[in-house]
Amino acid sequence: MRSMPQSRLAIVPGSFDPLTNGHVDLIERAAELFDRVVVGVLVNASKQPMFSADDRIAMVREVFVPGGSIEVDTFQGLLVDYARQRGAVAIVKGLRGVSDFDYETQMALMNRHLQEQVRTVFLPPSGRYAFVSSRLVKEVAALGGAVHDLVPSGVAARLAARRLGTRTQRV
Ligand code: PNS
Repeated sequence: MRSMPQSRLAIVPGSFDPLTNGHVDLIERAAELFDRVVVGVLVNASKQPMFSADDRIAMVREVFVPGGSIEVDTFQGLLVDYARQRGAVAIVKGLRGVSDFDYETQMALMNRHLQEQVRTVFLPPSGRYAFVSSRLVKEVAALGGAVHDLVPSGVAARLAARRLGTRTQRV
């Protein structure tokens, strides 16, 4: 009898501060290629995130409800250590353009240097989200710009609440 093929797991890592529609698109594309996808939310980042790890996880879980092939988890320390611990065959990253390419290639090569077995797979985003980043979404939302078509609704609501909170504090 032929043995069952091994389930192939990929990790989509990031700060997800906050989750954007570009991330959602990337995670869904990864789920088409791999049997299981773990969205790895980095905690203890040296940079101060706008949202707590709990909030960032909640925002991902609102979109990818538990029970399917996509799960959400947190990690700290080296990504390659986490990938090995989870038995991942690949790390999936999005590549929006040349500026991402430089940085992401450097990280992919460092990760390969650290852990030969784990491959990095780059996926281009949907053209609709090629300009979307968490940093720009936060900046636009903080200044009162519309981001509802760039992020999931729960994220838009949280960004709006933050803005309201900031303005109330200032009064
Ligand atoms: O969403 P981000 O902030 O661009 O994600 C960056 C992330 C989390 C993928 C990267 O910072 C990372 O892998 N951090 C874990 C620490 C690590 O492994 N550093 C060495 C990378 S070569």
